[in-house]
Amino acid sequence: MLVDRFGRIARKLRISVTDRCNFRCTYCMPEEGLNWLGRDQLLAYEEIYRLARLFVSQGIHTIRLTGGEPLLRRDLPVLVEQLMGLEGLRQLAVTTNGTRLPELGPELIAAGLTSFNVSLDSLDPQRFEKAVRRKALAKVMAGLDVLASYEQVKVKLNVVVMRGFNEDEALSFAKLARERAWSVRFIEFMPLGSEDEWGHSRVVPGAELLKQIQQVYPLVQVETAGASPAARWRFADDTSAQQKAELGFINSVSEPFCHSCDRIRLTSDGQLRTCLFSLTETDLRGALRSGASDEQLLHLMQVAIQAKEAGHLINQPQFERPLRTMSSIGG
Ligand code: 5AD
Ligand code: SF4
Repeated sequence: MLVDRFGRIARKLRISVTDRCNFRCTYCMPEEGLNWLGRDQLLAYEEIYRLARLFVSQGIHTIRLTGGEPLLRRDLPVLVEQLMGLEGLRQLAVTTNGTRLPELGPELIAAGLTSFNVSLDSLDPQRFEKAVRRKALAKVMAGLDVLASYEQVKVKLNVVVMRGFNEDEALSFAKLARERAWSVRFIEFMPLGSEDEWGHSRVVPGAELLKQIQQVYPLVQVETAGASPAARWRFADDTSAQQKAELGFINSVSEPFCHSCDRIRLTSDGQLRTCLFSLTETDLRGALRSGASDEQLLHLMQVAIQAKEAGHLINQPQFERPLRTMSSIGG
């Protein structure tokens, strides 16, 4: 197993399949985009599969595909199908901005994907455009409709909440979760972009949103086994059999959950990161391409995990931003 010096066990792996994106979210990328990686800098699917297999052999049971925008990577359903065949993998999920779901959703679902996180920071078209610098809300909504037409698919919306931008939409999102039986996750704004306007004053504590929503809808806390970063709530009056409508609060800044973190990340250029905010990485791509054996790769993974940082230092004066933005780390 992949255990660190604090006894935390890595169970979830996020794999970024591309650093490119067709959005330019203000908190993530500059308007002109970034210097994209070249094709041979990206891990090939065989390389991703080999690393994923090794990670799963070490106790990773959940893999999430991210980007950039993962649906921009060619033939993503092929990778999904390969990963779905990994023995020991319990869940495969994707985090997407949703724009390519109308074309690709059905193929991905046919390949076996049933868990989709869609980023959606505002329900107002103008605001949405301001946030992602693209006129694309209708497209994302169409993508969500495609997902909703499949009974087996689980949809989660990721909402990054920023003071002065969208904290007044918490109730609308709660209403949407109820109406469409979706899970909505409110994520605290973190200092990750190259030129975002992050500051403690822009962070809206999840507890504040929860209170606001509870004044209108009575909520009951969902008991969770294992390490979920989100405090999860359902609607008290939800009498449906599956109780899919849910609200989650990912309070990474106001209530860090680093002590129970079970995640690691593989960037699209094959670097292993033990934390979103890591200042160092382990070069698995270099090892792969210089002919490392499975044992050698496993050793590199073990050593990297052992050195996992105790937690992020966002609330401390010595905090340093990671050298990469979210799009190149993998969300
Ligand atoms: N703070 C919080 N969440 C962020 N995301 C991207 N940048 C930030 C940030 N600075 C979210 C995206 C997406 C997921 C991959 O991470 O909105 O939902
Ligand atoms: Fe793209 Fe996601 Fe970054 Fe927005 S946050 S620009 S959707 S990678």
